[in-house]
Amino acid sequence: MKIAVRRKVRRHADFEEEYNSALNEYAAGGGEIALGRAYELGRRALGEQKSLVEMASLHHRAMLGLVRGAKSEKRLVELLQASTEFHAECMSPYEMAHRGFQDAVKALRQLNETLEEEIKRIAYAVHDEAGQLLVAVHLALADVASELPVPQQAKFARIRELLNEVEKHLRRYSHELRPTILDDLGWIPAIRFLADGISKRAELPIHIESNVSERLSGTVETTLYRIVQEALTNAAKHAQASNVWIRAWKENLVLCCSIRDNGRGFDSDGTDATANRKGLGLIAMRERISAIGGTLQIHSNPGSGTELSLRIPLEGEHVNSNRAGG
Ligand SMILES: Nc1ncnc2c1ncn2[C@@H]1O[C@H](COP(=O)(O)OP(=O)(O)O)[C@@H](O)[C@H]1O
Ligand SMILES: [Mg+2]
Repeated sequence: MKIAVRRKVRRHADFEEEYNSALNEYAAGGGEIALGRAYELGRRALGEQKSLVEMASLHHRAMLGLVRGAKSEKRLVELLQASTEFHAECMSPYEMAHRGFQDAVKALRQLNETLEEEIKRIAYAVHDEAGQLLVAVHLALADVASELPVPQQAKFARIRELLNEVEKHLRRYSHELRPTILDDLGWIPAIRFLADGISKRAELPIHIESNVSERLSGTVETTLYRIVQEALTNAAKHAQASNVWIRAWKENLVLCCSIRDNGRGFDSDGTDATANRKGLGLIAMRERISAIGGTLQIHSNPGSGTELSLRIPLEGEHVNSNRAGG
C-alpha cells in the first residue's frame, strides 16, 4: 500500500516537473512544439484522473515560478499571456472530454425517450390489439357453443371465464407497463398503482411513504417510475423479502427516494458495471438516473436486505402541482 502511495507521489512530482519545463519552453518562445507538449500533458493528466482543482493549483504554482524572473512589466505581461495560452491548450482535452460527456448524456436521454415510445406502443398493442383478438375469440366460442347441447355449453362457459382472466391480466400488465396515471396524476400515484399489483401477485407487502406532492417534469417522473418498477421487480424476483418500503422526500432542491427490502441481499460491489454480471436492470437504472443528473447508491450485503437510494437535483425542474399530460 505504502509503495503504491509513494509511486503516486513520485508520478505527480514528475508530472509537475514536466509541466514546469514545458511551460518555460513555451514562454521562452517554444511555439507550436511546446504547445503540443501542453496538449499531451493535458491528455496524460486526464488519463491519470487528475482533478481540475489539482490542475489549476499546479498551473498556479508553475505560473508563479515563471513570472518571478520577469525583469520588466512588459515581460511580466508577456509571461502571463504565454502561461494563459499554455494552460488553455493543456486543458483542451478536459474540455473535449466534458463535451463528449454532454453528448453521451444527450444520446442517453434520446435513447430513453425512444425506449419510452416503444414501451407505450407495446402497452397499447397489448391492451387494444390483444383485447380485440380476445373479443373475437369470445364471439367465435359463443358461435360454436350455440350449436352444442346444453350440458356441453357449460364447459365453454369455463373457457370464457379463463379468457376473461387472461384479459384482466393483460389489461393490468399493459397499464403497469405505461400507466396513464403517470401522466395524469404523477409518479407517486403511478407507483402506488404498480406496488398494489406487484404486492398482490407476489404476496409481498409494499409500504409507501411520501411527502412530495408537486409534479415534476415528464422525464424525471418517468425515470423515477422505471427505476422503482425495476427495484420492485427485483425485490419480488430475487429478494425473498417479507416487506418492502418506499420513501420519498425532499432535501432542499434534491428529491430523495429510497427503496428498501428486508430480503436476502446480494454482493452489491460484485454487481458493479465492471464486474461479471448477468442482469441489465441495475445497469439500466444507473444509466437512466445519470441521464437526468441524479445518483443511485446500492447498499446490499448477503443476508441484510437491499436499499437503493436515489438523489435527483430539482434545480431548473419545472414544478407544477396541476400539471396534466407528459
Ligand atoms: N433486491 C434484491 N435482492 C436480492 N438480490 C438482488 C436484488 N436486486 C438485484 N439483486 C441481484 O442482482 C442481480 C442483478 O439484478 P438486475 O441487474 O436487475 O438483473 P436481473 O434482475 O435481470 O437478474 C440479480 O440477478 C440478483 O442476483
Ligand atoms: Mg432485475
